[in-house]
Amino acid sequence: MNTPQSDFSPLSRLMSQEVIFHAVVQCVRLKLFDALSEQPATPEEIARKFGFQLGPTQALLELLAVNDLLTLGEHGYENTATAAEFLVSDSYFYQGAALEHNSRFTAAIKTQFIPLLKGEANPIAHAPDDAWSDTDTMRATLQHSRMGALQDTVKVISGLPNFTEMRFMADIGGNHGEYSMALIERNPQLHGVILDLPGVVEKANERIARHELTQSLKAQVLDLRSDTLPSDSYDLVIASHILYAFMDDLAGFARQVHDSLKPGGWFVSQHMNRHSDTALQEKASLEFVTRMSGYPTHFIAREQLESAFAVAGFADIRCAFSGPGAQGLIVAGQRDS
Ligand SMILES: C[S@@+](CC[C@H](N)C(=O)[O-])C[C@H]1O[C@@H](n2cnc3c(N)ncnc32)[C@H](O)[C@@H]1O
Repeated sequence: MNTPQSDFSPLSRLMSQEVIFHAVVQCVRLKLFDALSEQPATPEEIARKFGFQLGPTQALLELLAVNDLLTLGEHGYENTATAAEFLVSDSYFYQGAALEHNSRFTAAIKTQFIPLLKGEANPIAHAPDDAWSDTDTMRATLQHSRMGALQDTVKVISGLPNFTEMRFMADIGGNHGEYSMALIERNPQLHGVILDLPGVVEKANERIARHELTQSLKAQVLDLRSDTLPSDSYDLVIASHILYAFMDDLAGFARQVHDSLKPGGWFVSQHMNRHSDTALQEKASLEFVTRMSGYPTHFIAREQLESAFAVAGFADIRCAFSGPGAQGLIVAGQRDS
């Protein structure tokens, strides 16, 4: 009788991943992790609370435990530090909307897999502009930024030599506005404008009002495909996770930003870092989803960005990394004084 000669384990591991992620998303939706943050619970208590059968509930909790989201203690299951920080809805680092966003992208790809590969279906990149202003998408974008990209980028910017003298900034594709808000908090004399698509601008202005920042920050419509930035206007321009939409002319984009800066002003871009410490499988999966979604890439090489900055006329070009495992690449350049 023949027996297999090769290792099947890479495939069996892959087969289990989808159901695990689905289980986590469902438990976030059910607020199971919220419930366990109040007190530990036994499988019987969880089953009773949610009206589930005991057998599958026991297996679900075991599944979450072996995936490092729960631990089993004397009084039942409780959240691990990871679950408490990222899956409990009142945590500052809650990732519920970001997980849902990821799941929506995957679902969109799954339903149109072959047509997308053949270029016969409309990818997400061609979705109407107002897709970015969807409340859940904006929430997901904000939650994702808080995983470290925001903190590290703000640290780099507030360490620039003339940060305290900066008075006016633009946040291109600023969406939720968290980057601008954090910078204004560090330099209260700084005023900012979030430049984004119409639907996003409306929601961003509502958020600015909720944060009582209307005196120092506003959102304005600017479509980078057709509009141009005002010249000699800003001390700082930031562009976080937007350059991937302008890969066909990065130097032209950088040139436009260069001309919108006052002499001595800084342009700071942030993007995915191809050479991050993130597992190769995760990077390949992100790039696959990105391309199936109709974007040319999610990663821009450091050399490519540095060269675009140099061609555009920037001096003192600097690089830094952001986020866990250096997931993000920050490139900054100064317009000559
Ligand atoms: C991935 S989000 C980045 C949000 C934020 N900067 C961050 O890093 O968390 C991309 C943003 O770019 C905006 N955007 C996309 N195309 C644009 C265009 N042509 N003109 C202006 N903004 C655009 C989207 O509306 C969205 O708010």
